Amino acid sequence: MSNYHIKHLEEYWQVYRKSVRNPENFWEEIAEEHFLWRKRWDKVLSWDFSKPEIKWFEGARLNITENCLDRHLAVRADKTAILFEPNDPAKEAEHISYRQLHERVCRFANVLADQGVEKGDRVCIYLPMIPELAVSLLACARLGAVHSVVFAGFSATALATRINDCDCKTVICSDGSYRGKKTIDLKTIVDQALEECPGVETSLVVKRTGGEVTMKEGRDQWLQPLLDAADARREATIVDAEDPLFVLYTSGSTGKPKGMVHTTGGYMVYTAYTFKNAFQYRENDVYWCTADIGWITGHSYIVYGPLANGATTVMFEGVPSYPDYGRFWEIVEKHKVTQFYTAPTAIRALAKENLDYVNQHDLSSLKVLGTVGEPINEEAWHWYNENVGKKNSPIIDTWWQTETGGIMISPIPYSTPTIPTFATLPMPGVQPVLFDENGKEIKGNSVEGRLAIKFPWPSIARTIYGNHERYRETYFSAYPGTYFTGDGALRDAVGYYRITGRVDDVIIVSGHNLGTAPIEDAINEHPAVAESAIVGYPHDIKGNALYGYVTLKETGESRDQDNLRKEINQLITDRIGPIAKLQKIQFTTGLPKTRSGKIMRRILRKIAGKDTSNLGDISTLLNPEVVQNIMDESLA
Ligand code: WTA
Repeated sequence: MSNYHIKHLEEYWQVYRKSVRNPENFWEEIAEEHFLWRKRWDKVLSWDFSKPEIKWFEGARLNITENCLDRHLAVRADKTAILFEPNDPAKEAEHISYRQLHERVCRFANVLADQGVEKGDRVCIYLPMIPELAVSLLACARLGAVHSVVFAGFSATALATRINDCDCKTVICSDGSYRGKKTIDLKTIVDQALEECPGVETSLVVKRTGGEVTMKEGRDQWLQPLLDAADARREATIVDAEDPLFVLYTSGSTGKPKGMVHTTGGYMVYTAYTFKNAFQYRENDVYWCTADIGWITGHSYIVYGPLANGATTVMFEGVPSYPDYGRFWEIVEKHKVTQFYTAPTAIRALAKENLDYVNQHDLSSLKVLGTVGEPINEEAWHWYNENVGKKNSPIIDTWWQTETGGIMISPIPYSTPTIPTFATLPMPGVQPVLFDENGKEIKGNSVEGRLAIKFPWPSIARTIYGNHERYRETYFSAYPGTYFTGDGALRDAVGYYRITGRVDDVIIVSGHNLGTAPIEDAINEHPAVAESAIVGYPHDIKGNALYGYVTLKETGESRDQDNLRKEINQLITDRIGPIAKLQKIQFTTGLPKTRSGKIMRRILRKIAGKDTSNLGDISTLLNPEVVQNIMDESLA
């Protein structure tokens, strides 16, 4: 029996039981057999969730790029590692072999080293979905530098906050990006951001669109000439298993974004293992994840997991609607994609369009269909299953988080029978538990509660950059001794998990986590605004959309409301990015508050979701009368 590759349900249970009975032994065997270490660990695991402190493979030394690149050169040097599909379908796809990727990573690493980047330094990467993005992550890892990728849809302010939070001295960006019909001037956004980032000494600029840019003397340099001049070889810097590999920001319900820190050894083992099993990856497969590398899904399942397995991983620069709604399926047909991994919001958007877009294409290469990022509704699940999978490809509804590093709950395709909307069973090594609101564990089946994990798995984030106390408080204080996910879940009669959604003030819009607090802060900056509260409400494509309740200062009351709405959304776009724009804005005379002054979002959520039959007891509110006003004026 192989722990590393599960092939049927009985085997899953055997492996799972083993992984829970003796986790150290389980992960040690996998780490030993399937990876390249320069020095073996002294201890497989030490942990204490009360501190919290988690260490996997302590004392081991390695470089993750030797695992993702060098070791493949002997056996699959000419195999395509990255298959790049550009935005413009008329342009040739680019096949980058393992040999070529190795060389490009080495050159890039040499350039970074020449610019003074050293082990442990943070490097900010703000790039569109072009090969240089994947190459730059690996180039940092080659040097033991810590990458901090910021999704290239974030605004200048959001970028600056993230650069400053982890003190990046170096930024990698591009002149611009292509997204469907649009060309976006990314460099202008970076220039604006860097005005607020005195610590940045160097920015390396990839030429993508050829648009006009300003290059700041002494700071900005075009990357290509430096790459051309660099040596094509570079020894990997050997790091400790617990040295940080990257920082990636995620929204919290309050405060500034959290820079989740992932370390090297455990992250590598877990993402590679889950990639192999959740996607049932085999040597000649062509795997495609449509996420952006700016999110954790792209880190773990476009770059590290697939490359550690020597896979061919597709990188797509464009959008599903360009040049038409058949683009995804055209790419699947063209490259004979075997595993396809996307977000429910994309499925819902495509399901609205004519079925011909799907049916025109030969999708018979597909073996596994995945979803991630938010709950998938039943209708979307069936559409995906029937029209894309032709009822022949199992759907894996994979639940996980930026913080978990890798897939936590998911069917093993061809082993675990699937049920729509259920993420089903934990991956080996993952021990979920449910709690009630009073902090009591809910045992048994056919129950619902808040989802926590009671034992560490190798790719759990180790801290929040620069704020370990916030890490403890956010994840380890709600249910002491466990990691709290922030999600609700039910466990059905057979023990399958279904994720029911966030139980905190994080709202997931089109698969993107958005904290209410930063959006409210942006709105409150508007001079006419007194106060605001954001809630999510169901939206048929985005899953959730944002509904803002805004009270105006006296001076604002005479203003034209449509103009105010535009200005408020512009502020949000400037501060966070267009993904956080409000779908609806209702101006109200007040917000419902508890006697201690806390806004009762529960009530606002119900009104926004047109579910006002049972608002619960509002008599304890400080100002119960506003509730009726809000309902009378509701836009819902
Ligand atoms: C939600 C994405 C239901 C969940 C990898 C989680 C899901 C948050 C699923 C993390 C799923 C992710 N079913 N909900 N299959 N996958 N979520 O950090 O609320 O961007 O806490 O990581 O997305 O989002 P993040």
